[in-house]
Amino acid sequence: MLRSTIMAASRNGRIEGLVTRAPVSRSVVKRFVGGADTDAAVDVTRELVADGRTVTLDHLGEDTTDRAQADAATTAYLELLGALEKEQLTERLGLLTARAEVSVKLSAVGQSLGADGEQIAFENARTICAEARRVGATVTLDAEDHTTTDSTLDVLRRLRTEYPETGAVLQAYLRRTESDCRELAYAGSRVRLCKGAYAEPESVAFTRRADIDMSYVRCVNVLLAGAGYPMFATHDPTIIDIVAARAKTHDRAADQFEYQMLYGIRPDEQRRLAREGQIVRVYVPYGAQWYGYLMRRLAERPANLAFFARALVSRG
Ligand code: FDA
Repeated sequence: MLRSTIMAASRNGRIEGLVTRAPVSRSVVKRFVGGADTDAAVDVTRELVADGRTVTLDHLGEDTTDRAQADAATTAYLELLGALEKEQLTERLGLLTARAEVSVKLSAVGQSLGADGEQIAFENARTICAEARRVGATVTLDAEDHTTTDSTLDVLRRLRTEYPETGAVLQAYLRRTESDCRELAYAGSRVRLCKGAYAEPESVAFTRRADIDMSYVRCVNVLLAGAGYPMFATHDPTIIDIVAARAKTHDRAADQFEYQMLYGIRPDEQRRLAREGQIVRVYVPYGAQWYGYLMRRLAERPANLAFFARALVSRG
């Protein structure tokens, strides 16, 4: 109930106006968002990399409604990749991974622009992949709501013919995902597995928490048994323990898979895993359009609301 109320607020323009204009303490946004512009995002990346973690950066701005916006988002990624290269943050860790890479939502680069949307998104994503390749970084295509899954995986397949290093994201709550994992668990294939963040119907998704968790673990097994490079995106302590145990069973060395967590969430656990020699990638969203992102994080964990409310009334 609380979750759906927060999700409704995330789509309400009036509430967005109120919240974004409120004297929001800088610490709220700072906790979950890596700053409003490229310079701030690069600063956060530098700090995380110096601390032994790796990074994937997401330029905030979904539901692009016109071509100019889609092209502007693409340009923002090109600027970011250039800035990361200049700061020597795109150093390769192995054949498949770099210290810093980018996460792209196809909806932000044109996917929802009518009949040509998929082609526009493909061309923009291809431009970003080309620049990422030039600077030594990689691109991962975020997963959005289930109506876009087929289109996103089609774009992924097309991009991989030229840029096989392009990462996929699969959501364990979708009933189709175990089968998608089997298809994508081939050598050289980077696959991020997450639980899934959108409100989906029973017909396509598991909706009970225990069923989603069981699906996640089945997918962990498929990805670790396969020949690809799995990226386990979760903050769930039980699942993290299961991944560690199964990685051992499957003889996966520390550089043959990675853990991923969101910026500002369980930072101590991120550091603990990194200290143990694991690759830990922090997903850092940045940009002026932080409102929708922040609301999704609050909906996932209403406990964060208290933190948000405190910060809203303070000016710190
Ligand atoms: P869940 O929310 O079920 O929490 C399980 C347990 O984790 C909790 O009981 C608690 O112990 C711990 N925990 C979770 N949040 C915590 C917090 N804030 N503080 C302390 N402990 C906490 N989704 C999507 O649809 N498409 C995508 O492309 C991506 N991409 C993505 C990248 C990365 C790197 C991450 C980490 C996540 C995503 N997601 C995503 C979001 C994902 O689908 C999911 O919504 C969130 O990660 C929350 O799910 P968890 O697996 O963390 O478990």
